[in-house]
Amino acid sequence: MSGNEDWFDLGSAVELSRTQVQRVVVRNIPIALSCVNGVFGAVSNICNHAGGPLSEGSLDGAFLVCPWHHWKFDRRSGHRNGDGNTSRREEAGSARSARKPRLQPQATFSTRRRMPRRRLRLTAIS
Ligand code: FES
Repeated sequence: MSGNEDWFDLGSAVELSRTQVQRVVVRNIPIALSCVNGVFGAVSNICNHAGGPLSEGSLDGAFLVCPWHHWKFDRRSGHRNGDGNTSRREEAGSARSARKPRLQPQATFSTRRRMPRRRLRLTAIS
């Protein structure tokens, strides 16, 4: 991995896209990198609830499921399922949503494919 300004080369986008969820490390920051249908997402690998490793969890649609207590975070926005990224209708229909404490979203990172070498690059955005 090499850095240029704030962008970091993670490697071949084709190679990285072969794994749906994986852990990568940039400047000692562990990141859960996901790829679904060629669209990458990158959020902090450390769950905001109690520090679980999100990259060791699973994918449920657009959400990473933490392996420790099964909370779900949007794999691209970092928002917890029910914390502002679902409709009011969905939230009103779930008594559990009302009891969930609100959390800061997972830290997110921007991904970019660069030509001509088709490398995936990443930078912090929040
Ligand atoms: S540590 Fe992730 S849900 Fe508890």
